[in-house]
Amino acid sequence: MKHLLRLLDLSKEEIIDILNLADQLKYETKHGIEHPLLKGKALGMIFEKSSTRTRVSFEVGINQLGGYAVVLASEGSQIGRGEPVQDTARVLSRYVDGIMIRTFAQQEVEDLAKYGSVPVINGLTDFCHPCQILADLMTIREYKGSFDGLKMCFIGDGNNMMNSLIVGGLKVGMAVSVACPEGYRPAKEVLDFAAQYGCFTMTDDPMTAAKDADVVITDVWTSMGQEEERAARERAFKGYCVDAKIMAAAKPDAIVQHCLPAHRGEEITEEVFEANAGPIFEEAENRLHAQKAVMVKLMRG
Ligand code: CP
Ligand code: NVA
Repeated sequence: MKHLLRLLDLSKEEIIDILNLADQLKYETKHGIEHPLLKGKALGMIFEKSSTRTRVSFEVGINQLGGYAVVLASEGSQIGRGEPVQDTARVLSRYVDGIMIRTFAQQEVEDLAKYGSVPVINGLTDFCHPCQILADLMTIREYKGSFDGLKMCFIGDGNNMMNSLIVGGLKVGMAVSVACPEGYRPAKEVLDFAAQYGCFTMTDDPMTAAKDADVVITDVWTSMGQEEERAARERAFKGYCVDAKIMAAAKPDAIVQHCLPAHRGEEITEEVFEANAGPIFEEAENRLHAQKAVMVKLMRG
């Protein structure tokens, strides 16, 4: 594994290896055991979209590993003025030991990896959000003990989260069901991948998707960059709010995951959100541990 660009590129074994290391690093962090595995290494972070969790968890994470972060926002750097990614890649590769990027087009992340010579980590694109899904999988395994026999359900937009959860969930061995309105379906290459698995289902009925689920996941209806579509999306996703009725269709001990930020009263009710605050904020914390594991795997050399 040279980069983390999409979960589609990783084997089941590589994903499980990352999760196992993440568990170990979480244990060590909680017990005050230092692990300067990336001593002196620099992580470049490029943000072309907003972030709270990704920004803070990567910066704290690289520091806990003995390294340090350099942050570049598109505003205030030459990236925002149109410097080609091919050149940014070759320049940054001469300064830093790894690059995390959050941007719009998946192709930009792929090009960064192609033209640069250091590991590249996808911190969210319009297509996928692999770091988030590693944290989600880590949390699900923490709460449920293993992935065996679990059903994971995603209700909402066929966005970066749904794309990545389908791939990650199926790769680690869960059954995956998704509910989304027509016109808001996951990417074709994700559906082609999922078609190899008999345990994948897609419907436009949230109650059907949630039936007997062990994990129910949702995300915003309007992702970053889609703000002009907000009104149309609110209409299209009417009936897709994860509420008590949908949760009643899931298993009685089902947990809810949400990558955050959440819009209460839209994709999730206040009641369901607060009843699941435990696993939701554990999921947020696990970003730190999962990404530290990714950085160690990629940047240790
Ligand atoms: N979940 C997530 O990626 O959060 P941020 O947008 O705050 O980084
Ligand atoms: N789907 C959301 C995820 C935010 C972490 C977005 O892309 O805005």
